[in-house]
Amino acid sequence: MHSAFETEPAPFAIPITFVTKTTWRAVGATLPPQARQFAQANGFAAKPGECLTLPAADGAIAHVIFGLEDETAKWRDLFRPGQLPGLLPPGVYRFANAPHDARLAALAFALGSYRFGRYRKNDARNVRLVPPEGVDVAELSRMAEAAALARDLINTPANDMGPEELAAAAQQLANRYGANFHCIVGDDLTRQNFPLIHAVGMASPRAPRLIDFTWGDPAHPKVTLVGKGVCFDTGGLDLKPSAGMLIMKKDMGGAANVLALASMVMDAKLKVRLRVLIPAVENAVAGNAFRPLDIFTSRKGITVEIGNTDAEGRLVLADALAFACEEKPDLLIDMGTLTGAARVALGPDLPPFYTNDEALALDVAGHAKAENDPLWRLPLWPPYDSWLDSKVANINNAPSGTFAGSITCALFLQRFVEAAKSWLHVDIYGWTPSAKPARPEGGECQAARAIYKLLSERYG
Ligand code: BES
Ligand code: MN
Ligand code: ZN
Repeated sequence: MHSAFETEPAPFAIPITFVTKTTWRAVGATLPPQARQFAQANGFAAKPGECLTLPAADGAIAHVIFGLEDETAKWRDLFRPGQLPGLLPPGVYRFANAPHDARLAALAFALGSYRFGRYRKNDARNVRLVPPEGVDVAELSRMAEAAALARDLINTPANDMGPEELAAAAQQLANRYGANFHCIVGDDLTRQNFPLIHAVGMASPRAPRLIDFTWGDPAHPKVTLVGKGVCFDTGGLDLKPSAGMLIMKKDMGGAANVLALASMVMDAKLKVRLRVLIPAVENAVAGNAFRPLDIFTSRKGITVEIGNTDAEGRLVLADALAFACEEKPDLLIDMGTLTGAARVALGPDLPPFYTNDEALALDVAGHAKAENDPLWRLPLWPPYDSWLDSKVANINNAPSGTFAGSITCALFLQRFVEAAKSWLHVDIYGWTPSAKPARPEGGECQAARAIYKLLSERYG
């Protein structure tokens, strides 16, 4: 992906002036009379997202004016400038005055420049921005590139993004930063005691695997990332209806976002010993598929009764989390597209996170807000823990009721986390259902930027 930022000197960059309903009159008064007349003739009203290109005498574009939310608006979308790359013709631009937040505006510009070009190369448009003064361009590029990686991985359909291809993408990233890559494939999962990963993935002709890479100085604090890598979720024998199955290529969104986060951590050379674990499987339907009421003994020794084969994400994460805990990480973070219930509770744009570490919770919420990468804490509510009871095994993977589905999933995962000093779980959606500023429709990078900033504050 080419960068949205113009880092060469660009004396002829076209200025973009940000206006609001309140400031438009004063800004308009500073424009040449012809330009003011042109704006008036076009009915420009400085509404949020309204964009007007003003012509020079020779017909070239002299100036762009772009509407933002008023200071007094109930809510200001700090990513609003992310619409610009989609609205402007190719060229090099610069901010002529300050938007509400110049750093986030520039980041939004880069995030809004993303196009999924794998199957239609000609969609990319060359709209570039001279980064505003004082922003750390390397940091913004790192974030934009990570987001593009997550989006590309999610947007790539399951026929081209199976467990093997996901592992290849992880290996490519690991190689780029000199990380130590390892992968356990197929029946080796049984031999090396990952029964749940094997159970979920065995019905697919594309063998399940556990991706595992390690990077950084072993003396540094151990940070381990675990991502749900279900390359396609049919639901298994508890088959999803078509509407529910349609976008399940995104069910490796946790893995994609963990890789995005890892890329930022390694690129910024944070002082951590990083480990990435991704159980990569396809939840398919076949004669050898795992069944409702099957019982498996997990890696941790907990026996798990299958209440529903569609609650597969928590199963593959359970073995990976137990494995992660065997080396007692200082901080254990997992992400996955785990429940429809999370979306029912908070919608697609606001993933819930869970932790019992109060200091970590405050930090996550703070960075989520500062980075405009929203996250909202939900509780690991102990009274609901008994909902996971099985009559014949230690635990059931799908409580019979439909209440608090994201919480009960988090409580399920908590049973497999023991030795980590601190644990954070994020139930992401990984998808933007309809385009918003800086967020094109399709695969989305969620939680990775906020957590990266948290890590860089702690270990930078
Ligand atoms: N991948 C889905 C969760 C999902 C569905 C995320 C739709 C986003 C949109 C997950 O594997 C799943 O199917 N979860 C079930 C759990 C249930 C069977 C306990 C769900 O949420 O319905
Ligand atoms: Mn499922
Ligand atoms: Zn799933």
